[in-house]
Amino acid sequence: MITTDITGRRIAITGAGRGLGEAMAVAFADQGAELILLGRTAATLAATRDTITRRTGRAPLAVACDLADTASVAAAAGSLAAQLDRLDALINNGAFWLPGPLADLTTEDIVQVVNSQITGAALLTQRLAPLLLKSAAPDIVNIVSTSGVVNTRLLGASVPFYAAKHGQTGLTNGLRQEMAGTPIRVIGVYPPDIEDLSPLDGAAWNAAAAQPKAAKINERNVVEAVQFAITRPRNCTIATIVLDSDAGGTYQ
Ligand SMILES: NC(=O)c1ccc[n+]([C@@H]2O[C@H](COP(=O)([O-])OP(=O)(O)OC[C@H]3O[C@@H](n4cnc5c(N)ncnc54)[C@H](OP(=O)(O)O)[C@@H]3O)[C@@H](O)[C@H]2O)c1
Repeated sequence: MITTDITGRRIAITGAGRGLGEAMAVAFADQGAELILLGRTAATLAATRDTITRRTGRAPLAVACDLADTASVAAAAGSLAAQLDRLDALINNGAFWLPGPLADLTTEDIVQVVNSQITGAALLTQRLAPLLLKSAAPDIVNIVSTSGVVNTRLLGASVPFYAAKHGQTGLTNGLRQEMAGTPIRVIGVYPPDIEDLSPLDGAAWNAAAAQPKAAKINERNVVEAVQFAITRPRNCTIATIVLDSDAGGTYQ
């Protein structure tokens, strides 16, 4: 039997207030995982916490974390270190989306996109590694993008976004080498353009279990890919998952 059981796994997700991070947090909590929610916007982070509490009867820990602000990342990691005795998975999901031509971008936007996706992700991973090393089965999952795959098209992404996603590829593959010989596995997930879909959508989420090949990749597809990777036997690191689709896939 192939198991994808995540009951009792303690999983931290950045960018958990909306989009893919929210969908993954709710889906994993629904299946009995213990969620740690990290997010920049207090109101949406609290909304995800309340949703999970309502659906499961268990209130997840929710901690403010602006990935583009090194002090905020350090404070979030310190808060987790003070409250937890272990962490089973860190999912680096939060990222600042930035479209448009380079000439049109503000200095602040360029700094945001690079700092949230590279500096913030690296610093949070560094600070949470000791907690992960206290787990019997620790995983780091980086939600990158097909923008982080060499020679894919920009498809509306700005050059700094595309470069930052390539940087996350470097973080993922470098970290996997550095973690060889430790219990921590490092997994990179590369979705193309994702259709919004959440467990909160109920029937639509359930129907997504049986999409035709022509349909776009949706958030349930990404959540299932992550869950499959983190539930493999410990000798098996699924190093890279590239999700592709006829409707807006990797090389289109
Ligand atoms: N959507 C897609 O088509 C797609 C395709 C491929 C890869 N991805 C990747 O999948 C991940 C999730 O994307 P999504 O679709 O959920 O995008 P989204 O709807 O734009 O949400 C982005 C998430 O990242 C958070 N974030 C942005 N800047 C942040 C910062 N400085 N510090 C902390 N959190 C920050 C946002 O928080 P706030 O609510 O505070 O803004 C939000 O939770 C990202 O890594 C993204 O690059 C997305």
